[in-house]
Amino acid sequence: MTDAFKTPVFLITGASSGIGAAVAHTIAHHCPTARLALTGRDTHKLQTVANTLANLEAAPLLLTGDVTNPSTSTAWVTQTLTAFGRLDCLVNNAGVCGSIGLVQEVSPQMIDRMIDTNLKGPLYLMQAALSQAMVAQQSGTIININSVAGITAYPYWAVYDASKFGLRALTEAVAEEQRGNNIRVMGIYPAAVDTPLWQSIDPNHTPDKGGMLTPQHVADAVWYTWQQPAHCHIKELILSALNPSV
Ligand SMILES: NC(=O)c1ccc[n+]([C@@H]2O[C@H](COP(=O)([O-])OP(=O)(O)OC[C@H]3O[C@@H](n4cnc5c(N)ncnc54)[C@H](OP(=O)(O)O)[C@@H]3O)[C@@H](O)[C@H]2O)c1
Repeated sequence: MTDAFKTPVFLITGASSGIGAAVAHTIAHHCPTARLALTGRDTHKLQTVANTLANLEAAPLLLTGDVTNPSTSTAWVTQTLTAFGRLDCLVNNAGVCGSIGLVQEVSPQMIDRMIDTNLKGPLYLMQAALSQAMVAQQSGTIININSVAGITAYPYWAVYDASKFGLRALTEAVAEEQRGNNIRVMGIYPAAVDTPLWQSIDPNHTPDKGGMLTPQHVADAVWYTWQQPAHCHIKELILSALNPSV
């Protein structure tokens, strides 16, 4: 059994909340020997998640910083390699939605925030993971947490749609570029998921969460795609709710 399967090393962005925290729990549940590097901007929130991962053989590495800064990605991969010696799976999950509305009403600041976080953030992380670790290893998996908004453009969500369509293009192109290096690059496309992200869209309006997916549904999809045999490449996984409420 190779190290990648005995003690796989994961770098999960946005692990302090919602889907990212569920991914960390799910990996720890299925594979206590995994090494986890968890990122977010808030040390306290990250530590709270880490405290619930007591079954891990090795304490998770907690990395704070902003994904919109390319030097952060470089530093996170360097620190992961220093701590664990390898990087087997990057889960690009950190993302924001911001306000929704007619495109002419979206502020330049909000446009930058969504494009920088949802598109440039995963791009910088992919560059760092590939150039610092995976190409030299000739192995690795990159899982980009996208959205159904990366496949269907929804009115009033135009900038979020654009960030996620862009991420889908990156995912597809890089997947083809890295095939020959035995590196799998894939996208997971969930419908609405019950996470704190919805509060950030409109703190005064709570959507009907009854028909939403849960973070666990997405985390289970991450685990499913990761633990396929190395030769098996699930390029896209779309998670829909059977009876959506949003
Ligand atoms: N919720 C949904 O309905 C839904 C549906 C489809 C796809 N998604 C996608 O799923 C991913 C996770 O979202 P979620 O619903 O779990 O949201 P969430 O609970 O709000 O979590 C977002 C995570 O991203 C991190 N983050 C945000 N901006 C960051 C930045 N600039 N630098 C570093 N970290 C940053 C946050 O860390 P901090 O602690 O620093 O804030 C947090 O850990 C996103 O890419 C989102 O687009 C969500």
